[in-house]
Amino acid sequence: MVWTALLLLLGLAASCRAQQAPPTVNINLDEDPAVRWKPLVKVFDVDYLRKAAAEIIDSTVPKWVHRAIMPIVKSLEKYIPQPYAGEIRGLASYSGGTLSDIIILNFAYEVTAFCTSILTQDRNGSVYHGRNLDYPHSVLRNLTVDVVFFKNGKVAYRGTSFAGYVGLWTGQSPHKFTVSGDERGTEHWWNWWKNVVSAVLFHRSPVSWLVRETLEEAEDFQDAVMRLSKTPIITGVYYIVGGVRAGEGVVITRDGTGPVDIWPLDPLNGGWYRVETNFDHWLPPPPADHRREVANEALNATGQEHINADTLYQVLSLHPVCNGITIYTTVMSAASPEKYTTLVRSKGCAPPPPE
Ligand SMILES: *[C@@H]1O[C@H](CO)[C@@H](O)[C@H](O)[C@H]1NC(C)=O
Ligand SMILES: *[C@@H]1O[C@H](CO)[C@@H](O)[C@H](O)[C@H]1NC(C)=O
Ligand SMILES: *[C@@H]1O[C@H](CO)[C@@H](O)[C@H](O)[C@H]1NC(C)=O
Repeated sequence: MVWTALLLLLGLAASCRAQQAPPTVNINLDEDPAVRWKPLVKVFDVDYLRKAAAEIIDSTVPKWVHRAIMPIVKSLEKYIPQPYAGEIRGLASYSGGTLSDIIILNFAYEVTAFCTSILTQDRNGSVYHGRNLDYPHSVLRNLTVDVVFFKNGKVAYRGTSFAGYVGLWTGQSPHKFTVSGDERGTEHWWNWWKNVVSAVLFHRSPVSWLVRETLEEAEDFQDAVMRLSKTPIITGVYYIVGGVRAGEGVVITRDGTGPVDIWPLDPLNGGWYRVETNFDHWLPPPPADHRREVANEALNATGQEHINADTLYQVLSLHPVCNGITIYTTVMSAASPEKYTTLVRSKGCAPPPPE
């Protein structure tokens, strides 16, 4: 009795908290791709994972398309490059999903990530990088996971992802650079299958795989910017990259083949921050979307002398920068990798009550 009451109370307390850290999973890159994601199922309930995957697929992919595409997707598996093919195959085997569903999930997520990313530099030259990831599937809050990738017993890089997804939209290579990806414009979910075709026929990388590859391979900030600018990818995107030294920060506007625009921090001329949502920075956003404007105003009000990881988090907590579909917020700084922090917005952010 007492235990039940106590558990109930604890449960209530947990559900009332508006934000919480996601679980952390350690992935050993020295292990075979097919087994390295096993630690995931120690942290996530397999039944829950399966149901969540089914829910996302049901609401993203019409049933008849799903049925029609399943055999095709299955045969595509042999075209997916390593290590992703092995990792996806492994995930399917121990998460209880079918291979085609896991593949569909990994491509379906590609198209609908709305986001805000902010780069700032304080007066001492420290670069802070923050991001909100918005996605209209509440279930992703329960699937959010911080992943630490190890190589030779050391942290190679880390990032924030969703259980079952092998790409990264948010990540950090310690003492080198941080990176986030924001969707560019309005690709629609019903185009997700184009991603598969594009990946297979044109050997283009999904945008989140290029983030992971860059975290794994780039030597430093400059190398990361080069790779993220030039490597062919499936679709347009914004890559936001922060470095370890003053001035190292850039918003890269991408189309599938290369860079469209490079927008660096310019602290000597007042450009101590850059805000990127889902629209080209040189154009006005749609009139109903106030995220960019509110973030700019809040950063101006904060001032360069007061910007740090905490104040950046506060800017990322303001409505509508944080909104009803915001899944998580990450704040990071490559020069202080231990400060990498992700918080899940359990209920999103509501607009302030009218005055
Ligand atoms: C910036 O440098 C000053 C002087 O060295 C120091 O007092 C301050 O704590 C530093 N601020 C940050 C955010 O590191
Ligand atoms: C997320 O998990 C919590 C606790 O396990 C549960 O109460 C909630 O319904 C889940 N949310 C979704 C959208 O599945
Ligand atoms: C923020 O400050 C800059 C520099 O003073 C100014 O150009 C810009 O219009 C301001 N933005 C907003 C949204 O207040």
